[in-house]
Amino acid sequence: MWLFFVGLLVACDSSQPKQAVGGAPVPMEFQAGEAKFTANCAACHGKQAAGTDHGPPLVHKIYEPNHHGDAAFQRAAANGVKAHHWEFGNMPKIEGATADDVDQIVKYVRWLQRQAGIQ
Ligand code: HEC
Repeated sequence: MWLFFVGLLVACDSSQPKQAVGGAPVPMEFQAGEAKFTANCAACHGKQAAGTDHGPPLVHKIYEPNHHGDAAFQRAAANGVKAHHWEFGNMPKIEGATADDVDQIVKYVRWLQRQAGIQ
């Protein structure tokens, strides 16, 4: 029993590195983008951009850099998106995210995509 509680404490230790898809820790250089993604985008696009009931995964082949370049992310955040690939409805423009924020978010999402073999 006692050992069980110790195990729980270890499992919940928040000093553990954050894990991404496939278990790789998020590199330092992408952690600011991760925080901005979590604050502005994750409600719909999900933790680690894996998708939710309100929005599609961005770690998905259709959002690879050649099909949805970085400009598409800037446009999406600045103007919103009319539903066209999915049936989640429209994406509203994201008031809180500046172009600089989106720039960091894109770098984080591209890193997630590379982890998943999408490039
Ligand atoms: C309120 C929910 C919601 C939030 C918050 C949200 N999105 Fe979206 N997003 C959507 C939905 C839904 C779509 C899919 C539209 C379609 O193609 O059907 C989408 C599509 C996109 C696309 C694809 C655009 C295209 O050209 O097809 C990008 C890129 C994107 N979102 C980025 C972001 C980023 C970056 C953030 C945070 C700054 C964000 N989204 C926040 C709901 C959301």
